[in-house]
Amino acid sequence: MCGIVGCILKENEKAAPVLFNCISMLEYRGYDSIGMATFNGEIEVKKARGGIESVDAKLNLKDMDGSFGIAHTRWASAGKPTDENAHPHLDDTGSVAVVHNGTLENYSELKAELIKEGHTFRSSTDTEVIPHLIKKFMDEGLNLEEALGKCTTRIRGSYAIAAISKAEPDKLMAVRKYSPLIIAYGEKGYFAASDTPAVLEYARNIIRLKDGETAILTRKGIRILDEKGEEIEWKSKYIDWTPEMAKKEGYKHFMIKEIVEQSCAVKNTLIQKASIEKIIGEIGDVKRICFVACGTSYHASITGKYLIESLVGIACDVVIASEFRYTAKTWDENTLVIFISQSGETYDSRMALKEANKTSKTLAIVNVAGSAMSEEAEYVIQTQAGPEIGVAATKTYVAQLTAIYLFAGLLAENDEVIDKLYKVPAYIDEITKKREDIRKLCESYDFKGHAFYLGRGFSYPTALEGALKLKEITYIHAEGYAAGELKHGPLALIDETVPVFVIIPPGEDYTKTMTNLKEVEARGAVVISVGAEGDDKIRENSEIFFEINPEVDDMIAPLVYIVPLQLISYYVTLAMGYNPDKPRNLSKVITV
Ligand code: AGP
Repeated sequence: MCGIVGCILKENEKAAPVLFNCISMLEYRGYDSIGMATFNGEIEVKKARGGIESVDAKLNLKDMDGSFGIAHTRWASAGKPTDENAHPHLDDTGSVAVVHNGTLENYSELKAELIKEGHTFRSSTDTEVIPHLIKKFMDEGLNLEEALGKCTTRIRGSYAIAAISKAEPDKLMAVRKYSPLIIAYGEKGYFAASDTPAVLEYARNIIRLKDGETAILTRKGIRILDEKGEEIEWKSKYIDWTPEMAKKEGYKHFMIKEIVEQSCAVKNTLIQKASIEKIIGEIGDVKRICFVACGTSYHASITGKYLIESLVGIACDVVIASEFRYTAKTWDENTLVIFISQSGETYDSRMALKEANKTSKTLAIVNVAGSAMSEEAEYVIQTQAGPEIGVAATKTYVAQLTAIYLFAGLLAENDEVIDKLYKVPAYIDEITKKREDIRKLCESYDFKGHAFYLGRGFSYPTALEGALKLKEITYIHAEGYAAGELKHGPLALIDETVPVFVIIPPGEDYTKTMTNLKEVEARGAVVISVGAEGDDKIRENSEIFFEINPEVDDMIAPLVYIVPLQLISYYVTLAMGYNPDKPRNLSKVITV
């Protein structure tokens, strides 16, 4: 996700310092590059790769003339983080400037069409097609409002766009679909931004645009059009948050915000389907696959192994990155080594990647564009979870799984699996909407000592991930186990002081997992189950039962059943008085 800002000041004063302050408050949304455009007879643009401080030191962003303009902070999705790919983007003549947050699915065909018509492109981004389309339609006689409207009928995907044009100075256009966009006004003037933190210093009367709505901001005020281009009434809400609170959009912590954002992370990663299909074609035949990762990404890798082996029949290994040394000797030209890493900077994973590049095809599934592993791997799939601030991986994990399911489903040419993925965002939203019930339960139940997480088949890595979430932010010792393995020793630890989380979706493993559930219940364990809504058998044998939509079967359960476990960890941490965003001893990226 990126951050966009646009403003028109009531007085004829410099907009650049205001834009700079606004965009600085959105740097948490992305920090690959920064750029601004202001209008003062001509559109002036200053932009470069890097964070706002380093770019300002180089370009002196605040020193731009003009009392209105746009700004952008980038989290690279299409096109690497470079000076050319930084926003704002212009048309050939420099008379239309645009900033964009989102992902355009059909930009390649639009770009080819525009190049055929004589347009020249300077960047490899999807965004750059937007100013060219707007200028093309304005050259055909449309005004800025009409041209932007026509542009939105041609682009497909997610977008929040702010646009200015030399032909219609003092008019700022803003439109959204799937990506957030707010309009704000105050003493200083009129604003459009991805998120409220950007504007709170200058404006606290906020209008949240709905999908398909367009805002036209001038010094005379605000007009809002619906999807059909009809002007509609609007009303604003006064926001009294502090900017810090607003960065979390009112959530108490980044972790809970990111858990709730998971449905968007899945939706935006699903947009990568076409590029994943292309990579599969380029990789060609492989005899063996080896996943290499750490922590949460290692758990996503195990799910990948189970999926590919069950859907495609290719043998898969999974190796903890710090233990890759001996397995590396078995990698050859017929092996595809897949590296999963949200940061793309994990030291152990990077060392393994350097080794794998000597002998095998390498694919990195990363969340951070321009990260070391995204530069070093032969093939790259970029998940679209946006920046993850909380140390505990949540939305990046579910985005990794989405990419893996797309990869496995496309490799297997299994449309049934692929189709199921498009329902996952709704399943996740159903759970996060009920999070208050989970909070109340976690406050009432005194978690202490050890905890076990049990799962079979596709739910085994979910058990591992659920246990990691609990231990890394509550400091309670927790172990994830293959449900069938407990009786081979660890069952001796079970008594009435031990909570045992049982992940038991409907499917092939249900009956056996139910047997394991009864084994631990018989020994007095506090059984906390996650299973299909309305399953009385689970209810009868559990102290606590989190119910999930029964449409979620064991194969796609990993994408959904992890959500209540993440929420439990979050609320138990709060009940224990800890800060879930900054657990002791841990950091977000392990580069040593
Ligand atoms: C997970 O919540 C932790 N933050 C940690 O285990 C993390 O998954 C691991 O360090 C791997 O990080 P990466 O995905 O950036 O490589």
